[in-house]
Amino acid sequence: MKLKAGVIGLGILGGQHATFLHSQPEVEVVAVADIRQEVADKVAGQVKAQAYTDYARMLKEHKLDVVAIATPDPLHRDPVLATIAAGVPNIILEKPLATTVADAEKMYDAAEQANARVFINYANRGSAPDRATYYVIQNGLLGEVVYGTAHLDDNITVPTQLWGTRTKEWVGGSSTAHFLLSHVTDYLHWVLAPAQVTEVFAISQRLVLGYTPDLYDAFLTFDNGCKFRVKAEWIKHIDGLVEFAFNFSGSEGSLFYIKRPSFGEVEGWRANVSDRLTSADLLAHQDILVQQGINLRALVHRPNPTAGALQAGGGATKRALEAFAPPLDFWRIPRCFMDAILQNTLTPTSWQGYGPLPTAIDGLKQTRVVCAIVESAEKNAVVEPRRVD
Ligand SMILES: NC(=O)c1ccc[n+]([C@@H]2O[C@H](COP(=O)([O-])OP(=O)(O)OC[C@H]3O[C@@H](n4cnc5c(N)ncnc54)[C@H](O)[C@@H]3O)[C@@H](O)[C@H]2O)c1
Repeated sequence: MKLKAGVIGLGILGGQHATFLHSQPEVEVVAVADIRQEVADKVAGQVKAQAYTDYARMLKEHKLDVVAIATPDPLHRDPVLATIAAGVPNIILEKPLATTVADAEKMYDAAEQANARVFINYANRGSAPDRATYYVIQNGLLGEVVYGTAHLDDNITVPTQLWGTRTKEWVGGSSTAHFLLSHVTDYLHWVLAPAQVTEVFAISQRLVLGYTPDLYDAFLTFDNGCKFRVKAEWIKHIDGLVEFAFNFSGSEGSLFYIKRPSFGEVEGWRANVSDRLTSADLLAHQDILVQQGINLRALVHRPNPTAGALQAGGGATKRALEAFAPPLDFWRIPRCFMDAILQNTLTPTSWQGYGPLPTAIDGLKQTRVVCAIVESAEKNAVVEPRRVD
């Protein structure tokens, strides 16, 4: 028996969720809903499902095993609550969980009460170098992470053109904090787990776009003392759609991850690991990661940092892991959600060793931190998001 699936919100992401689900051998997409009739009809035709403009009717007329929801950022609450109330046991929700803490708490509480799984598509956890980042940090190969930086910037055409005539209203209901830093805060909670953000100080700028902040730039303090700077812009005139990179500074090593390069950069992932590791240790870690499908080279090399007459480093050998051309794999996480449903676990065989797959509890953590970033920038003051225990 195939899983019966529905999709609510059939725009850029929802249309892709519908075709992804349609391509899965264990799934039958039976119904799709969008308030825009023509969009609903088009996607329904592509995946041979019934089209609805009212998701409440869709939920009444079909008994669904899984519903994917991809409405715009501030409009996640109502379809999620209605889907849970209709008795659907599995929801795949696009990030962010919500744009207000009140909405996030309502959704989290409803999911808990109904014992429903609300998976959240934090797709940036899925690619091979992302899982390598988790592995390296969680196994202490950098010592303790004490500081880091991340930026995730979109081309200015995203907030000015991406949603056609709906663009101004769309981005006016969101911001780079909700749309972009939701990815980054979830990522940091995941790789630095169990640490949580307990203090936020942020700035924003509002000089270019007018209908939404141009950018947010925030300092996050975690309860283990780690401090991290995260920044997301919507006013960059760049060649690509997205620029995305992380740096992690550990007490014994450093990790550099250029996920989507900026001008003059190339993709890359490199962990310069602790001097405590022997070459045999390094090869053992490489073996484990390669078995997990993460293609890495182990390096033992002699860096030679010089500038003019200045020399540093003393000629010692250093050890590192470096990923070969890091690929992006957007649909890995949604595929793992399918496995989680079929195997009835948050750690299916396709997602082992990386903690549980992201659900509403991760969304609640993410939303509290992102809303604290927005509030901090508004008040020009430190804000303390509540921990999620
Ligand atoms: N995981 C990722 O990397 C990623 C990337 C981009 C976007 N997203 C997220 O996906 C979500 C959707 O973004 P998008 O770019 O596809 O937006 P979109 O505007 O293209 O699609 C949203 C759709 O929802 C429909 N809709 C609105 N209200 C509705 C309602 N009450 N009932 C049914 N349909 C309704 C709209 O008509 C539209 O077709 C957002 O939350 C966004 O942040 C995630």
